[in-house]
Amino acid sequence: MIPQSFISDLLNRVDIVDVVGRYVQLKKGGANFQGLCPFHNEKSPSFTVSPTKQFYHCFGCQAHGTAIGFLIEYSGMGFVDAVKDLAQSVGMIVPEADDKIPPAQRAQIQAQSLALSEAMSLSADFYKAQLRKAPNAIGYLKGRGLTGEIAARFALGYAPEGWDNLRAVFPQYDAPALVEAGLVIDKVDEEGRHIKRYDRFRERVMFPIRNAKGQVIAFGGRIMDQGEPKYLNSPETPLFSKGSELYGLFEARQAIRDAGYVLVTEGYMDVVALAQMGFPQAVATLGTACTTVHVQKLLRQTDNVIFSFDGDKAGRRAARRALEACLPHVADDKTIKFLFLPAEHDPDSYIREFGTEGFEQQVHEAMPLSQFLLREAAGEHDLDEPEGRARAQFDAKPMLQAMAPSALRLQIVRGLASMTQSTPGEIEALFELSKPVAASRKAPPRSKRQEPVGLERKIVRAVVTHPALALQLDESALQAFHQFGPEQCEHLVHLVQTAQALGEGATFAALVQGLKDQGADYDALISEIAEAPEQDIDAEAAVLKATVRQLKKDALNAELNEIFASALSTEEKAIRYRENMAKQDMLSREEQSELANR
Ligand code: UTP
Ligand code: MN
Repeated sequence: MIPQSFISDLLNRVDIVDVVGRYVQLKKGGANFQGLCPFHNEKSPSFTVSPTKQFYHCFGCQAHGTAIGFLIEYSGMGFVDAVKDLAQSVGMIVPEADDKIPPAQRAQIQAQSLALSEAMSLSADFYKAQLRKAPNAIGYLKGRGLTGEIAARFALGYAPEGWDNLRAVFPQYDAPALVEAGLVIDKVDEEGRHIKRYDRFRERVMFPIRNAKGQVIAFGGRIMDQGEPKYLNSPETPLFSKGSELYGLFEARQAIRDAGYVLVTEGYMDVVALAQMGFPQAVATLGTACTTVHVQKLLRQTDNVIFSFDGDKAGRRAARRALEACLPHVADDKTIKFLFLPAEHDPDSYIREFGTEGFEQQVHEAMPLSQFLLREAAGEHDLDEPEGRARAQFDAKPMLQAMAPSALRLQIVRGLASMTQSTPGEIEALFELSKPVAASRKAPPRSKRQEPVGLERKIVRAVVTHPALALQLDESALQAFHQFGPEQCEHLVHLVQTAQALGEGATFAALVQGLKDQGADYDALISEIAEAPEQDIDAEAAVLKATVRQLKKDALNAELNEIFASALSTEEKAIRYRENMAKQDMLSREEQSELANR
């Protein structure tokens, strides 16, 4: 269970306009952003995203929710994945399900990751400044055809020779953060004692790797002469995980949107050189196989992904791995293609030799995923022989099984069927494909609870609009909720306690998310609030106070009736009556003084 406090912090840090904007084209209109609703078919926009409420709402189909809710509904992610995804985008660490880390320690981890980002950004600045003073490194980059402008765009730098240049940046050179950030290496002797510390990157051209927010999270450093390794990379750190980052994605974001596709290459220099030559929509995996996380990240930016692989054997192998990483994400509205350059070429060398047009031609002729998959299945097998055809089917099976049911899967099944002299039905049966891979998600049954009315509605409205107001409701207020009957009372107390648990900084979005997570439901009312213009908190506070007072008065009157109808002695009744009147009196005086203070 992810703590509600984390969810609420998270919703405070992400911006729903960014999140929704990745999938829906939004235009600013007044205080809100508008676009075509992704949840129903429409021609004119009735879908709005409110930056102040951090909430989306569709006037057409009544869909609404927070950034988390949007990801869940739009991408079909589960709750935990959606939270993780958002947390990663803002550099927060999700407390694990069976997390025993106390909040204080988690805060410390958070603080530490902040220290790491700081160290990375300071060293990136340092390397960048060093490049200006290093004619040999400038000469190297010029020799590879790069301009100063492109070097600046990718914030390229230089780590000079010497073992401890970073001392100039970090007077506390022995700080633990430096080794955790992967900037230095601690040398230890056989007994594991720490002997000395030195800079990881020396005499290398530095390529900073940035996350989605543009913060430097790692480096790749290229040697300028011959030598091993050609590229030295940052190790895995709390900030950086190779399997989920793509070089150049931050720099390419807008270009990817403009071009309508992303080009995925294998190397740092490919990205930089392509950008220089008019292909700014390129990114690179970081010397590792393409993972499903990479694919997921790419498909979040665009519906069209083109992988480019070097023309060598390693390139072919890498392409196969990328194909496998793509299969779970194949969908009929996405296009994935594979581009194979002639042997001995990578995108950098190809575009320099054949120019931008030549490279564009290659991109244009890239092989669709379906074709690549069938080619991989056919392999070297002799399709004129039954054994060869069976073998092709055998090889295709895991790939088809990895795909969710889609029109494209069916097309591939047809292709395989004709290639192996079978029928699509035979293949689906043989591969056990007919039943959907992913069971479709069913919406949880809606509790058909009655929408609150009257005083109850006013209270719910005030608390949902400004959850921090719940803190003003004391025990006596909660007692008064009994007026509404046991079931309503229970719901209301639950609502108030959920809001109170969010504390002073509680927001509408966090509360709605919290209610959703607990299965509670004030759907129509939430829609109404989402549609309404911003409500002033002071006005709403006054309404809440007056409503609760009215409720308490009603409760006291009801109690009075009970007293008179009861079997109490006359004397008892008199005492209870006076007590009751005194309480009513207090409420009236409170009201008077408030009215006077207006
Ligand atoms: P390549 O060897 O194809 O290098 O490695 P490249 O990208 O063409 O680089 P240049 O043009 O010689 O400068 C492809 C990618 O594999 C990773 C890097 O991410 C590199 O960009 N790699 C390669 C390493 O991480 N370490 C290495 O030693 C070599
Ligand atoms: Mn190269």
